[in-house]
Amino acid sequence: MANNSSLIINESQHLDGEINLPGDKSITHRAIILGSLSNGQVNIQNALFSGDCLKTIDALSLLGVKISIADSVIRINGKGLNSLKKPSDIIDAGNSGTLARLISGVLATQSFDSSLTGDESLVKRPMKRIIEPLMVAGAKITSEKNKLPICFIGSSMQPINHISSIPSAQVKSCLTLAALFIDGESHISESIKTRDHTERMLKYLNYPISINKNTISIVGKKVITAKDIKIPSDISSAAFLIVAALIKEKSNIILKSIGVNPLRTGIIDVLINMGADIKINNNRTICNEPVADISVKSSVLKPIKLSGNIISRLIDELPILFIACTCCKGTSVIRDIEELRHKESDRIKSMEDGLIKLGIKVKSTSNSISITGGTLNGGIINSYSDHRVAMSFIIAGLVSSKSITVLDTGNINTSFPNFVEILKDQNIEIYNL
Ligand code: S3P
Repeated sequence: MANNSSLIINESQHLDGEINLPGDKSITHRAIILGSLSNGQVNIQNALFSGDCLKTIDALSLLGVKISIADSVIRINGKGLNSLKKPSDIIDAGNSGTLARLISGVLATQSFDSSLTGDESLVKRPMKRIIEPLMVAGAKITSEKNKLPICFIGSSMQPINHISSIPSAQVKSCLTLAALFIDGESHISESIKTRDHTERMLKYLNYPISINKNTISIVGKKVITAKDIKIPSDISSAAFLIVAALIKEKSNIILKSIGVNPLRTGIIDVLINMGADIKINNNRTICNEPVADISVKSSVLKPIKLSGNIISRLIDELPILFIACTCCKGTSVIRDIEELRHKESDRIKSMEDGLIKLGIKVKSTSNSISITGGTLNGGIINSYSDHRVAMSFIIAGLVSSKSITVLDTGNINTSFPNFVEILKDQNIEIYNL
């Protein structure tokens, strides 16, 4: 949603010390949905209380699930796969593509009708990628031009057999959630591996699911066992602090208990290849997700060339990676990033516009960008209401010769509500305009 909150950031001091970050957004969405479909009480710790995740709580509440929050713990009273009720109102996914796609898998398979919408950014985003495979399996869905709002008409579905050509964990998870409600065995395949939090959480909750290379096989109507869930801190949020510490000289930080699922750690691998001093310590597993502490020291970075399968392992971190590229001597080229055009904003365009305004040489094609490192001159940047674009340019402000003003920053709250507070705790000069 467009709003007037703008932030101004000045070149600041280095970052240092231990920083605790909020819970992972992708995993929080899944914990709320799967907890709601489980057979008992589920307590979720270290959940992310952001705009997007609160919308997921609202959606499941509208579907009749009892959910409460006390002392920062989400308590869900799961009543099983058969327990959802016809919602009394349209479900509003707000700014969240993840909620819209994942909940569609649940809604399409119910015997009751329901409808789903979103904010002015989400109603522009592509939904054909989920509508089409759901309809092939028998779902009854109406929409205009395959965009939100969409209506689900109560129906029963046949097992799903889908091979996804778009690398999308949201599509995969939508279909996996739908398969939970379908008699018989569904097979869901992807050409490029994407984040597997849904699969991991189903396994953790004792749901029988088998994974062979890039294919999930899953029989519906089994039991999801209620268990408490602890969420790792979000590597996508950590990425902003990691790049901040790398580009701001004399920085030295430790980020605690970060989720290091190998399908999400592309950003760490790429930054290390660029010369970053990043160490991963204290590796452990929490609720079937790998977790570690990450330490980062400021470093001289080299430009990179990227393309292919790595992209889905850092898809959300590309905007902040572009900022790291502006701080290198030389030209970085990143290809196969067409999906960036379908995020909360067209992120190739949003980032290109902003970087050019700051005096950086950028060229783009429909699916690539090239960025030549240089001096950031300061200026006024449109975030296009996109949380990750806004946070990326705020981090750029740390090393800019003049202040950077970022417009329309309210949506930072959708993924990283205490971002500004954490920067202020680091004595970084950031103000409301
Ligand atoms: C997500 C998957 C990714 C990512 C999004 C979260 C998820 O989207 O960009 O922020 O939680 O499944 P796509 O699956 O559309 O690539």
